[in-house]
Amino acid sequence: MTSSKGLPRKNFTFGRAFLLLIAALPGTLAAQSADEVRSVQNIFAPIGAPAEMIHQTSILVLLICLGIFVIVGGLLFYAVVRYRHRPTDDDTTEPPQVYGSTAIELAWTVPPILIVVVLALATARTVGEIQNPKFAADPLQIRIVGHRFWWELHYPKYNITAANEIHVPVSYLSTPHPVELTLASADVAHGFWVPELNGKQWLVPDKETKWWIQPTSLGIYLGNCTVLCGYQHANMLIRIVVQTPEDFEKWISQQRQPANQNPNAEAGHKAFESNSCGSCHTIEGTISQGVFGPNLTHFMSRQTLGAGVAPNDDANLKSWLHDPQILKPGCLMPDMKLDQTQFDEILAYLKTLN
Ligand code: CUA
Repeated sequence: MTSSKGLPRKNFTFGRAFLLLIAALPGTLAAQSADEVRSVQNIFAPIGAPAEMIHQTSILVLLICLGIFVIVGGLLFYAVVRYRHRPTDDDTTEPPQVYGSTAIELAWTVPPILIVVVLALATARTVGEIQNPKFAADPLQIRIVGHRFWWELHYPKYNITAANEIHVPVSYLSTPHPVELTLASADVAHGFWVPELNGKQWLVPDKETKWWIQPTSLGIYLGNCTVLCGYQHANMLIRIVVQTPEDFEKWISQQRQPANQNPNAEAGHKAFESNSCGSCHTIEGTISQGVFGPNLTHFMSRQTLGAGVAPNDDANLKSWLHDPQILKPGCLMPDMKLDQTQFDEILAYLKTLN
């Protein structure tokens, strides 16, 4: 029997098994589509340098702990079976008591100390390497500001402000594209965690923290805020869109365009401004320059609404505009109580912001 390409079945199976093996190796997952959402957040499937370092350390720790578990559990099991109560046991005399055995004292102090030293050194090395990275190329800089309950994004080199969906180029072995994140908070403490790309990092008011990622496979990686920051903490979702360098450049040049000024949506533009939407939202090139909510200049280029709470489609957008508290109760955008005409006009306007 042959496969569609005429290979003997035996080779096909071997080749498939080999591919599966390669795919199972961390960080070598064959490049997939940039649109694929990696919906399972898995620390055991690291993609890219920092997550792989953490993964290796965690495997070392788990193996050592497994060894301890097998030895301690095995000795316990042996003792329970070997010294279990038997009907012939003499219950009137004490078993032999052992005091001050140097061999036993050394056995239960020296190996644990050595194990702790090994774990501490291995962990300190990984922490050091992640906190003081030696980038193989000039990293792309992104500044991320945590807000209750969304993410403000700046790409200083390109003068771009965006929100919630972090676009980065994929790293190839020959052309690494490390991404350095500068994290800050506009209000309370937040946490940044995309498990397949790196560990957790804090975002705290009045202080900047650094983090980095270097994804080696295309796709959309999901993460969460990891510090309880309020009512909608659980819906403060992160999307990292890892694209080919060419697609990333396209995204950059599209985001650098000024806001679309569609003459047919002028009524909506005016309604947006007269309802003070612009005191919270910026639309570049207009008088709307608010910074409390996400920048909406290229709003329609986003996949989701409300920091990942729902797909950015027609029904959800209508629901959001009608009352954001329906999709995201407790979010800081109020129900604007728009009348039907204003609602329709603003909806039409938002849909032009691509
Ligand atoms: Cu931000 Cu939890």
